Amino acid sequence: APIDVKKICCIGAGYVGGPTCAVIALKCPHITVTIVDLNQSRIDAWNSDDFSLPIYEPGLVDVVKQARGRNLFFSTDVDKAILEADLIFVSVNTPTKKSGVGAGFAADLNYVELATRRIAAVATSNKIVVEKSTVPCRTAESMRTILESNSHGGARFDILSNPEFLAEGTAIKDLLSPDRVLIGSLQTGEGLDACQALANVYANWVPKERILTVGLWSSELSKLAANAMLAQRISSINALSAICEATGANIDEVSHAVGFDSRIGPKFLRASVGFGGSCFQKDILNLVYLSESLHLPEVAAYWRQVVDMNEYQKSRFSKTVVDTLFKTITGKHIAVLGFAFKADTGDTRESAAITLIRDFLSERAYVTIYDPKVEESQIWQDLSEACPNTPLETIKKYVTIVHNVIEACKDKEAVVIATEWKEFLEIDWQTVYDHMTKPAFVFDGRLLIDADKLRKIGFKVKVIGRGD
Ligand code: NAD
Ligand code: UGA
Repeated sequence: APIDVKKICCIGAGYVGGPTCAVIALKCPHITVTIVDLNQSRIDAWNSDDFSLPIYEPGLVDVVKQARGRNLFFSTDVDKAILEADLIFVSVNTPTKKSGVGAGFAADLNYVELATRRIAAVATSNKIVVEKSTVPCRTAESMRTILESNSHGGARFDILSNPEFLAEGTAIKDLLSPDRVLIGSLQTGEGLDACQALANVYANWVPKERILTVGLWSSELSKLAANAMLAQRISSINALSAICEATGANIDEVSHAVGFDSRIGPKFLRASVGFGGSCFQKDILNLVYLSESLHLPEVAAYWRQVVDMNEYQKSRFSKTVVDTLFKTITGKHIAVLGFAFKADTGDTRESAAITLIRDFLSERAYVTIYDPKVEESQIWQDLSEACPNTPLETIKKYVTIVHNVIEACKDKEAVVIATEWKEFLEIDWQTVYDHMTKPAFVFDGRLLIDADKLRKIGFKVKVIGRGD
């Protein structure tokens, strides 16, 4: 029979582990949830008196305020939390490998393996071990081998796959009412019992028909498949945006018309300067690598094109800026509004803004950045990594970070909108125009502005997916 889960440990207090297990604690007051991490400063931030949490996510502070100290704990004592738990989420990072076999494509499973080995070394009683991290298909098998070969004191391990589908910026909303919760298990008696034990945790707030239970490998692959198909929609619409710019068709109208077909649906069809975020590119490359390892080169090439199209979209946008500013931006001043990879997050991983600014710097333009949430230190770190051959002092000669839109745009030749922050909808464009160098250009990479209104003020305007 399925065990009654009373203590949960989550290894990894990042964007996924933190919010996910905070919501579990909120909704299951009878379960003690301990989130552990090796990173002391991250744990200190989760425990901070003034709730200056390590990640920004709307609604997260409220959840942590309600549960922290009651049945939600953050700690660096990984071993103690493992020892006490009935169920352990492994929610560590799985970045793209930078060197070795599969470099540039395969997922780096080192953190997952280290966490798994720790569980095996510490556990003295039965544990349900849950893959929460996004991993290649059949990773659970490697985890099981590691756990079983190192188990002691008669401890048994059941492994589940429970991928996370939350999107940053809406994490709390997504966790409180998920489209679905997916749990994969071996189809053995023990596997199905473990699956039921985890399903019972979610059943405290998720309707039963939204809790899907499948085989382990299907669950692992479904996560990669969902991200690949979401990203594919964006690359498809972005490919069409290039045709719009060349023909005078309008990508907003095309998306609307196409999305009205109930088989296609209206969501996730917004043309942009390119998708960013820590996962889409990583997970597709992971799928490409998996396909190649399975000797399926046509399948690999098919998914690879989704990433290639995204790179093309970013470089096409940079080129539009250069071409429109009379084919040179050397020594010109450009304001970039938004640095996060999407609105409502301070996360910058793989943000399109980084690529654009790198391109502008390679033309020796001056760039002024404003983002409502991203920390300055993060911007410097991202730009240093994007321009590995340029010392930070040189980057700082060309780049300025400011704290509001008007300051960013003052005395600039062009404004580039890179993130769809809501506050950019309320920009007083007349004031911006009055302060800019003329002719004043606006490049909208997020379909955010009313182009006709701006043209009436006097701006020269270029919008993604519009020919005018
Ligand atoms: P993250 O980098 O924000 O957090 C991972 C944390 O794990 C870090 O704080 C790190 O210090 C910690 N860690 C690593 N190894 C550890 C160990 N052995 N013991 C204890 N702590 C350890 O990463 P994230 O964005 O939360 O992503 C985690 C996983 O979830 C990834 O596989 C990712 O693909 C997947 N995912 C992410 C999102 C998202 O929106 N960010 C959504 C769905 C799935
Ligand atoms: C994405 C998925 O939406 C989540 O389901 C998944 O759990 C997560 O990846 C993950 O595995 O990490 P996330 O990257 O946080 O979530 O954010 P999205 O809302 O998917 O946006 C990703 C990128 O696509 C952003 O840069 C966004 O601006 C861009 N985008 C999104 C578009 O350009 N057009 C759209 O129509 C939608």
